[in-house]
Amino acid sequence: MDQIVIRGGQRLKGRIPISGAKNAALTLLPCALLTDEPLTLRNLPRLADVDGFGHLLNQLGCSTTIEGSRPEDFGRVMTARATTLTSTVAPYDIVRKMRASILVLGPLLARAGEATVSLPGGCAIGNRPIDLHLKALEAFGAEIELASGYVKAVAPGGRLKGGKYTFPVVSVGATENAVMAAVLAGGTCVLENAAREPEIVDLCNCLVAMGAHIDGIGTETLTIEGVDRLHGATYRVMADRIEAGSYACAAVITEGDVELVGAKADEMEATLAALREAGATVEETKSGIRVAMSGRAQPVTLSTAPYPGFATDMQAQFMAMATLGAGASLFTETIFENRYMHVPELARMGCDIQVKGRTAIVRGVDHLVGAPVMATDLRASMSLIIAGLAAQGTTEVNRVYHLDRGYERLEEKLQAVGADIERISAG
Ligand code: UD1
Repeated sequence: MDQIVIRGGQRLKGRIPISGAKNAALTLLPCALLTDEPLTLRNLPRLADVDGFGHLLNQLGCSTTIEGSRPEDFGRVMTARATTLTSTVAPYDIVRKMRASILVLGPLLARAGEATVSLPGGCAIGNRPIDLHLKALEAFGAEIELASGYVKAVAPGGRLKGGKYTFPVVSVGATENAVMAAVLAGGTCVLENAAREPEIVDLCNCLVAMGAHIDGIGTETLTIEGVDRLHGATYRVMADRIEAGSYACAAVITEGDVELVGAKADEMEATLAALREAGATVEETKSGIRVAMSGRAQPVTLSTAPYPGFATDMQAQFMAMATLGAGASLFTETIFENRYMHVPELARMGCDIQVKGRTAIVRGVDHLVGAPVMATDLRASMSLIIAGLAAQGTTEVNRVYHLDRGYERLEEKLQAVGADIERISAG
């Protein structure tokens, strides 16, 4: 397996292009199932999960073509066309490798009146149930059975109807599935306490470009008036606010000065506020956001929350940054029950972190020392990269496939701003 090797201590300086957002791409791709016309997505990041989602679409009868992008370019253009669906089944083998596969449930049900999707099961960061996805679909008339590890959903008469569902807790994935199911319903669907993440705004904007009627985009109440059919569209995937925030943490820990090209400040205000709390200079530029730091990071107190709160997807990276801070930082993880898996690995590099239930106290140390490390999920892996960039000596990050799921050509982007980082290929 590949490894990423970092010799720490280089200050990051320069411009980092921010790719299209993974979490937006993975909810925009299934929109192709909603129409027999082509959906063209621009600025799709080159990521293992995007390729995986393309394969899943192919299994359902949706063709995918990638146009004229050169290997050296960031981002790609993909056209997906589901002229007719040849299957409505998302099998276990695909879903267990890529949780986002669950997002075909809503669109398949909307378009074909039925869908059979494997239950994703737990994952490294927690239990991650899908009960809210199913309850929202039931509120729109779906009949759902669970058998042999699969969800089988049917729309009586071949079409979902109107209805109203109030989410008891904010769920990004369930909101996405419910919106994609509702756009072709035979009535008006209302979602209350819906997630408001920028990726959901991106999804809604793409669906509107395809002819959907959605009111309240960006608010916690979405009103979707079903239409008889959607048409094709060309849509540009938003910039990845989590990738941008991750590189911002890398800039702070190395006392660097980077411009995150393409990042949008209004989509990542909680992250920018946390960077300022840490003492970083953060300013909007013509083409993105500049983040600069001198001296040790100030301690931060951060609690994860649904958007517009501080994102759970940024917790591990800020924690890595705080390991060299000038005092004690306090983290509270409210979204997932098991999202401190990076802590024992960071400890191997010499940091001082105490976890108690959902909180973690990080006491800044004078230096970190490079070590062989590995992580169990994407953002945890990124936290090890961030720590490695500032550690003394060499850090070897293993299980690079996690990073390949979510960071487009990480080592190239970091090399270009002065990091001493390379990928060692196993084969
Ligand atoms: C979550 C994060 C998202 C992040 C992604 C990957 C939030 C609100 N969501 O999205 O920002 O990009 O992980 O790290 O921060 N839940 C249920 N039943 C369900 C669905 C969810 O109980 O059917 C619970 C989850 O266990 C969790 C909370 O609701 O505690 C939010 O989960 P949800 O937003 O659905 O998770 P993801 O869509 O994976």
